[in-house]
Amino acid sequence: MENKTISNTEGLSRVDGRLKVTGKAKYSAEYNVQGLVYGVLVGSTVAKGSIKAIDTKKAEGAPGVLSVLTYLNAPKIPGYQVDNPPPKGPLKIFYNDQIYFNGQPIALVVADTFERALFAASLVSATYNVTAHQTELKTNMSNGFAPSKGKDYVKGQEDAYKSAPIKIEQEYIIPTEVHNPMELHAIIARWDADDKITVWDKTQGVKSTQRTIAQAFKVPPENVQVTSPFVGGAFGAALRTWPHEIAAVLAAKVLNKPVKLVLSRADMFTSVGYRPYTWQKVGIGATADGKLVGITHEATGQTSAYEDFTEGVVNISQLMYACPNVNTKYRLVSLNVNVPTPMRGPGEATGAFALESAMDELSYALNIDPIELRLKNYADTDPSNNKPYSSKFLSDAYKLGADKIGWSNRSQQPGSVTQNGWLAGYGMAAGMFGAHRSSATVTARMMADGTLILQTAVTDIGPGTGTAMVTVAAETMGIPADKIRFDMGDSSLPPSPTQGGSQITSTVGSAVHDACEALKEKFKTLAGNSSATDYTQILKQQNLDKLEVTTASKGGEEQGKYSMYSWSVHFIKVLVHPATGVIKIDKAVSSADAGTIISAKTARSQMIGGTIMGTGMALMEEAVIDHRYGRLVNNNFADYHVPVQADIPLVEAYFVNKPDPIINPIGAKGMGEIATIGVAAAIANAIYNATGKRVRDLPITPDKLI
Ligand code: MOS
Repeated sequence: MENKTISNTEGLSRVDGRLKVTGKAKYSAEYNVQGLVYGVLVGSTVAKGSIKAIDTKKAEGAPGVLSVLTYLNAPKIPGYQVDNPPPKGPLKIFYNDQIYFNGQPIALVVADTFERALFAASLVSATYNVTAHQTELKTNMSNGFAPSKGKDYVKGQEDAYKSAPIKIEQEYIIPTEVHNPMELHAIIARWDADDKITVWDKTQGVKSTQRTIAQAFKVPPENVQVTSPFVGGAFGAALRTWPHEIAAVLAAKVLNKPVKLVLSRADMFTSVGYRPYTWQKVGIGATADGKLVGITHEATGQTSAYEDFTEGVVNISQLMYACPNVNTKYRLVSLNVNVPTPMRGPGEATGAFALESAMDELSYALNIDPIELRLKNYADTDPSNNKPYSSKFLSDAYKLGADKIGWSNRSQQPGSVTQNGWLAGYGMAAGMFGAHRSSATVTARMMADGTLILQTAVTDIGPGTGTAMVTVAAETMGIPADKIRFDMGDSSLPPSPTQGGSQITSTVGSAVHDACEALKEKFKTLAGNSSATDYTQILKQQNLDKLEVTTASKGGEEQGKYSMYSWSVHFIKVLVHPATGVIKIDKAVSSADAGTIISAKTARSQMIGGTIMGTGMALMEEAVIDHRYGRLVNNNFADYHVPVQADIPLVEAYFVNKPDPIINPIGAKGMGEIATIGVAAAIANAIYNATGKRVRDLPITPDKLI
């Protein structure tokens, strides 16, 4: 086995690392656009009903205020469908008097300084025709409906687990979790002409933002310039264009001035989505020797009253294990809350908590080691369609991680091991996520001085896309990395997909590879029989100042023939204080099959970040609504807890690092999602092993253990 330990010193350091740590990297709110004015949103204070009256007089009279937009005076957004609007869809800002959730923007105050806008926003008041709201999933489960996406699934016999000799049937809950990237969502919007817009915007996809703004304001897409070269984290929250972005563009039009709108941290909890509160039930049964007989997985997640958000919560139970009988069901409940959105490992992170907790529970019922149970039910082909995998080295990842965590020190007897007065336990869980490859176009331009410039519209929300792309190009062209510049985050560059769904290294990496190969060919042709050997020599000989190619790249028929997934296994050693229930992660090891590891350092960072995010999910994160008012009570970092440095041990990340021979020319699969999928279950499983207490509702706070 060619296992590769990723160490600190291996691979390229982040190509934009120096810019980021010295503050030279410019984020969306940091552009000094001439004549900038500042917008602050005002949110509704009720969760359901309609606006009876809205008083903007005081705000309009406040110092420096240029405009207060509400549904009463805002020009209609041309792209909002007015005739026969669909019953459900994205929230239309300043559209009418309807209130769907607490915090819904009802006004935008624009002033000459941010502070004046903020003060004036506090002077806007509204009265409402209030109707009874529902914000609690638990008490509204009977209103669940089947969404148009996510059909009921039956393979073999329904509920077959019930007849199995050994079975587990349990319910699991994850609360609402909020992305909370470090950088607040921010946009600067400017109209350059009647039909031309420029935005500096926090987004995971400049092309998708371009399309959405163009559609909303009925201008040609090429007339919308979106600039987003740096993004300070997003995790899914910037996958789509939100109402605040439309509001900023609208205000810029009304005032004919560039408008900057930065969400407050509190706004971030109600304006840019979240991982939805989800109830799950898993029934799982096996023969006495641990062969799975049946899995039943049901889930009900919350969505908003105005738009349905669906995610593949139960899909993992269709895909993870070889099991003859599987049935799944997914339901939504509409509540008076803002709409959820994908958050790292969307669906799978939620589903894996339930399935991988249930697998752990089954392993104890069977008295079989949890890794052995998984290997006994290992799927060699895709259990949902019998297609071969493009590659699957999950069994290597099990062995690799088990070895590194010291799995042989684990006791099968829960609550039986102490260490310096603390209960000690080991847990593990696996994760999987589709290894997607879509299409991207890359320009590769060799300059006379030997600098290679690569250009494509992709953004980097943090994983280190530029670093990975430079690595691919350096290898393909055979030139040093410091001779390569990667331009991105600009809608005028050749198209790339939105950074999301763990698809970018595979998609754009392959496009970079293909563009570099095409450029090499062009050089070869140009050189002909000449004796010139390197790129600069050939350019000089031909009297050219540059040579470039633009190459579109995407997958072929292999995409339909094979099932393509990345796989992870997370191992946790936990210590639990028997008197206080305090939980310490003592050691965390993740091992993954993500194909070829292109960028060792940034890949390792992805896995560490995923473990930290999973730790938040397992132990801390929970957005709490006061259901009397339908309002979030912990919309700040004092009350909404996320892991800090002291909560996290040294996290070790290992990769099988074997190329996927099918998926693409670089052999890489994705890893952004698998880094976090399964972590929460691994922690819950470790806590059970330490204490004998099974907690099925996250987060696992000390009070649940004592
Ligand atoms: Mo994501 S949830 O792939 O941004």
